[in-house]
Amino acid sequence: MRQSLLPSARARRTRKAALLSRPAALAERIERAHSLDPVVHSLSDTVVRALPAGARTDALHGVPFGQPAHPALVRLPLGCWTSAVLLDLFRGTERAAGVLIAAGIAGTAPAAATGLADWSALHRDQQRVGLVHAICQAGAATLFLGSLAVRAGGRTSYGRVLSASGLAVATVGSYLGGHLALRLGAGTSHAEQVSHLSGLGWHDLCALRELPDRRPVRRQLGYLSLLVYRQGSEVSVLSDRCSHLGGPLHQGRIVVERGAACVACPWHGSTFVIADGTVVHGPATARQPSFETRVTSDGRIELRPRP
Ligand code: FES
Repeated sequence: MRQSLLPSARARRTRKAALLSRPAALAERIERAHSLDPVVHSLSDTVVRALPAGARTDALHGVPFGQPAHPALVRLPLGCWTSAVLLDLFRGTERAAGVLIAAGIAGTAPAAATGLADWSALHRDQQRVGLVHAICQAGAATLFLGSLAVRAGGRTSYGRVLSASGLAVATVGSYLGGHLALRLGAGTSHAEQVSHLSGLGWHDLCALRELPDRRPVRRQLGYLSLLVYRQGSEVSVLSDRCSHLGGPLHQGRIVVERGAACVACPWHGSTFVIADGTVVHGPATARQPSFETRVTSDGRIELRPRP
């Protein structure tokens, strides 16, 4: 009996050691941690209710800047805290370290607000990783706050320990943030790389009369999925995969924004001008690739990627 248990205990220990030695495996386990779903669900609902579509939410997503605002804003707390911990290695730097810790804590508010806005419009596996990332960063901020408090009380050595612990927790959180962005693609453009996937010059698409009027349809051009929208003899074409997370734009609603016909993605509501792919509302921040079109004398539509 004892002999049969030993190998399985060893196997468990080996598996645990393998997981710890491969942080990516731990992050992948978080992706599949369904036990987080009740928290993810209720927090996501709360954030969506608190941030209705509009200019403020677009700014939090980073629409005016053409890329998510969160990655740029997290540099302030992480940079300040890393510098503070380095300063703690030297004598006579207590005051400077305290200022950096306080600046980092102040920088967590915009970083958290932008992160929450982006997180609320992610897929569930991404949200699980995002939740643990946020818990780590909140834990790090709490440790740095504690460090600041004990330093103010004259217990500098204890403050240094708390700062170093805070930086360690923030580093784990940053790793998960990297996993979210680089492995799970949160924040990167998911639109097809049209200039890489279509040849140079004009391409034949279909006859104009085959397209319904004022109803978006999907058409294929080689590897490219396209949203095609006809208004009379005018034809607009966008890449069909939404730049936010790849949603099918041809299933979206046609709306009018700022006097222009736009398509709203069916997944999270990103809204693009149909004529040229400009982002009107997030969460998408990257312009949707668009095509120039022309109608030939025999009534066929030709297109080429817009430069
Ligand atoms: S996939 Fe999220 S808005 Fe389109």
